[in-house]
Amino acid sequence: MSNFTRRQFARLAPGPLLLSLASRGSAAPAAPAAPGAVPSRIVLTWTGDPARTQAVTWRTEVAAASPQAQVAKFTPDPKFEPSASTVGATCEKDDLGDGRSAAHYAARFEGLSPDTTYCYRVGDGQVWSEWNVFRTASTKPEPFRFLYVGDEQNAIKSLWSRSIRRAYAAAPDARFLVHAGDLVAEGYDDRLWGEWSDALGFISATVPSIPVPGNHDLHRPAGSPEANTTLAAPWPWRRHFVLPANGPNLDDMPGQSYYLDYQGVRFIALDVNAFAEENFEATARKRVTDKEVEWLTKVLSDNPNHWTIVVQHQGIYAIAQGREYAAMRAALAPLYEKYHVDLVLQGHDHVYARTHKIARDRIVDPSAPGVIYAISVSGPKMYKTQKVNSQYMAKMIENEQFYQIVDVSPERLALTAYSIDGAVVDGFELRKNGASSIYIDHSSSKSAGRNITATALRA
Ligand SMILES: [Fe+2]
Repeated sequence: MSNFTRRQFARLAPGPLLLSLASRGSAAPAAPAAPGAVPSRIVLTWTGDPARTQAVTWRTEVAAASPQAQVAKFTPDPKFEPSASTVGATCEKDDLGDGRSAAHYAARFEGLSPDTTYCYRVGDGQVWSEWNVFRTASTKPEPFRFLYVGDEQNAIKSLWSRSIRRAYAAAPDARFLVHAGDLVAEGYDDRLWGEWSDALGFISATVPSIPVPGNHDLHRPAGSPEANTTLAAPWPWRRHFVLPANGPNLDDMPGQSYYLDYQGVRFIALDVNAFAEENFEATARKRVTDKEVEWLTKVLSDNPNHWTIVVQHQGIYAIAQGREYAAMRAALAPLYEKYHVDLVLQGHDHVYARTHKIARDRIVDPSAPGVIYAISVSGPKMYKTQKVNSQYMAKMIENEQFYQIVDVSPERLALTAYSIDGAVVDGFELRKNGASSIYIDHSSSKSAGRNITATALRA
């Protein structure tokens, strides 16, 4: 039919269709949206219970008079809009320099039904985004999967885009996306956050993010007076991510450490920059580390979930050349071991490296209590591995971009690491066994058969 001219088609078509074609042809096109009013950078996160709430941020160039968001249960019938409920949004206006500005918004959907698919849109009542889709968590510990990526950081639009889009294509049913820090190279630079959003496209509007800040996310402009005295992330972090306000008692660092429970897993996002980054003032670091340890102990000790996963940027067992965070390890690893943290997801080293099960700085028996530490990278910046800490690693790979899919059920937690060509390069699983687990290593299985290409092994 596509080869027919409209006149040919009209001769064949019955009356009602002809009418419909005629009326469509004469309909006035929709008025174009006012410049600068179209929502962009739409990012889903949570501030509350993932089974009953969802949060969203977005922005426009020109501040909206009445920013708002609408949500409705997903239905294949497109005439669902009258059933949508509307919530107001907060607005923050930011000066971007060079005479440019932006308005950032946050809205929270509450009172949602668990395990239910919704669609939502953001706008001002006149100009709207498309209807995006999300799904609430179940209140039960039912099986689910999520994506984990390490540092996106460099050439984000140019080269990180391929990682995250391959990851999404591999796991479109991932319930969320864990970012292990260094999402951008300069946390203060709005243009880089624009690249980050461009690379994700609609993915950030449909797969919620669980981010933790890396050292680069804290970067302030060169010469800025607060550069070494505050560990608070510059404004773009808070504008793009609204996150649970259940972190340590550090009012100037909202959304940098927090936890949330998802279908039987406690996720703890811990900002470890104060432990690892020595360029910050000692008093500023001690203030933060003391509060974080106090909070972490509480969040780990009072935890009814089957599994516990920590997300942090710098590695407890660092593997990039010249790196070692002994003080951070001394402060945190005993807590992770004592309270049966199952898995620590990290970045910072720009390689893939994953330990066996570790306790007290030793590889332990697969059924003994212990913790598995993973490091990965999704952006294009590449480092070399070192001999220090390589003895703990089940797998180390350099010079590739990766994504990881983690499958969780009450009985089993399995991480599979992929190079972005889709090849399985590593994997392991944990079978729940009381408070601890049984570790099954798949790093040398045929499906994870890529040669280890790590400098540390050649040293
Ligand atoms: Fe880093």
